[in-house]
Amino acid sequence: MLVNMKDLLLQAQTADYAVGSFSIANMEMVRGVIAAAEEANAPIILQIAEVRLNHSPLALIGPLMVAAAKEAKVPVAVHLDHGLTLPTIQLALDLGFTSVMFDGSHLPLDENIAMTKKVIEMAKPYGAAVEAEIGCVGGSEDGSVDIAMRCTAPAEAERFAKETNVDALAVAIGNAHGNYKDTPHLRFDILEQIRTLVSAPLVLHGGTGILPEEFVRCYHTGIKKINIATATFDAVERSVREGYAAGAIKGYYDLHTAEIRGAYENAKKHIEIFATGGHAVC
Ligand code: 13P
Repeated sequence: MLVNMKDLLLQAQTADYAVGSFSIANMEMVRGVIAAAEEANAPIILQIAEVRLNHSPLALIGPLMVAAAKEAKVPVAVHLDHGLTLPTIQLALDLGFTSVMFDGSHLPLDENIAMTKKVIEMAKPYGAAVEAEIGCVGGSEDGSVDIAMRCTAPAEAERFAKETNVDALAVAIGNAHGNYKDTPHLRFDILEQIRTLVSAPLVLHGGTGILPEEFVRCYHTGIKKINIATATFDAVERSVREGYAAGAIKGYYDLHTAEIRGAYENAKKHIEIFATGGHAVC
């Protein structure tokens, strides 16, 4: 069932869990993630970032994501991750995505606020939700640049949320995209402060490599959407590699099955850690 991300996150705010937002690049990953969500009776979010559209064009992958969400037995929101340009955001809305992110985290605060308001106006006629980001999550979504991490200033988050009334706000609390070089330890002191100042559901990017106990602490402290990308891609690639090593992949359709299994296992693991199971309300 295709649902609005705002509803999923508001529902999560009334209980003690977070919703996993899984980045996908092809049909096999979509199928693996949805299979794990259906098995756990968990709501989920399917997402793709603008920088990944050179591999999976939005006009092709977008309708597939929306169709898969509509067919699913659990609530699935379809989300544009790290929207950078207005034409891409517009296309996602036209294709039926139920939420879009505008990533203005690299902009001065005033510009980030102004652009986020513009995207909120674009999304309104579609009834779609909008996520924004403040502070700088380290690394980058496709590993192409190494953006320095800068923790979100709680007072800026408060001003941003008040002025934009955005549906979900991504924060930087020591998290980074990609595989971490050292075990990350999140700044829960900053998260606690932001949570007291901002009522919108908070979002954690850079989920790959965060310790399970830190994920749990996150959803106890206002994080209601957790993005997982690299772990999905790594799990799919590992599943295929192991399949070849074991001699289990003998042709194309064995490869296809191994990809689905990798995405399924990764989503299943994170759905368990985020305690999302059993929260599907259709
Ligand atoms: P990871 O690649 O670190 O899981 O980050 C995912 C993410 O935040 C996508 O926006």
